[in-house]
Amino acid sequence: MLVLGIESTCDETACAIVRDGTAILANIVASQATLHECYGGVVPELACRRHVDMIIPVIDEALKQAGVTLNEIDLISVAKAPGLIGALMIGINAAKALSVTLEKPFIGVNHIEAHLYAAIMSQVEKVSFPSLGVVLSGGHTTLVYMRDIGDYKLISETIDDALGEAFDKVAKMMGLPYPGGPHIETLAKKGNPHSYPLKAGFVKGSPLSFSFSGLKTAVLYSLRGQNSSTLLPSQLSEEEKCNMAATFQRVALQDVVKKTLQAAIEADCETLIFGGGVTNNMALRELFAKAAPNKKLIWPKAELTLDNAAMIAGLGYHQFRRRGADNLLMEAQSRIEFYTSAKDSNN
Ligand code: KG4
Ligand code: ZN
Repeated sequence: MLVLGIESTCDETACAIVRDGTAILANIVASQATLHECYGGVVPELACRRHVDMIIPVIDEALKQAGVTLNEIDLISVAKAPGLIGALMIGINAAKALSVTLEKPFIGVNHIEAHLYAAIMSQVEKVSFPSLGVVLSGGHTTLVYMRDIGDYKLISETIDDALGEAFDKVAKMMGLPYPGGPHIETLAKKGNPHSYPLKAGFVKGSPLSFSFSGLKTAVLYSLRGQNSSTLLPSQLSEEEKCNMAATFQRVALQDVVKKTLQAAIEADCETLIFGGGVTNNMALRELFAKAAPNKKLIWPKAELTLDNAAMIAGLGYHQFRRRGADNLLMEAQSRIEFYTSAKDSNN
């Protein structure tokens, strides 16, 4: 089955062609990173306009690279949530238009679930369930119990900023361009990770939940304190930036490792499946490898860590087999629950 996937939840316009949920024939991503770089974050209106400009060229390019025609496509899969409503609508309307004109089915999938599928798409049959899903991206920090592909139970998530968002905001405070995560990782290599008395967020009554906004504010005050109440990033020395990057990164990542491994113990999961842009961070991967040598850790390939449409096409294949197509009434959603099987009503 040939699936055409479309992704437009945030600041990447992407299209991929995937055979039978696993073989990636094309994976085209038009990143808007440079468009938003100087704003320190994604500007929704600009993102939407760029999606409109890029969606057709990106689809054309994917078909060309895969060497297939639209008539050979069996299913169109699109990210329907969560994300920026305007941005999602552009991808969804493109998918609906293709579906109507080609008379082919289409399906909308959960973008967060697709991030988890990205890690396993090259080895679906080898993954044993239940597993613990760990999504660490710019918009989400989520732990989920995975009974199977398409059958989940949410364990915990962030109550405020996502992990990647915290990396981006700390980077912005230091005058680094968006997305700041990779810049923080680079600076952290040259800094002392114990330079500031920073602490991870603790959520009262929900020990597995995440909170990064207090940590982010502590970074702000630490930097401001060092520069006589001014906040001009240009007044920070290179050494200060490296030390803050290293300390923030250590505290944030150690918190993620600790809560994730606690969740794995409580849910009795031997396999951990990771997804999302922050999984690019090598310090994160090393911390997990060290802290959990006996767990099976499944990381996405580099080209599937950030937002992409291969994961949307791959997951769409499985979801279509599981529950069939969607109809034209399907709409974009800014938020979405994980699909949970009936078993949950018993526990
Ligand atoms: O998964 P993704 O494309 O976005 C969402 O779906 O939300 O991830 C983007 C996020 C950004 O916040 C970016 O700063 C972060 O991933 N990121 C990193 C690294 N590479 C990307 N964070 C820390 N270290 C990295 N090396
Ligand atoms: Zn994403």
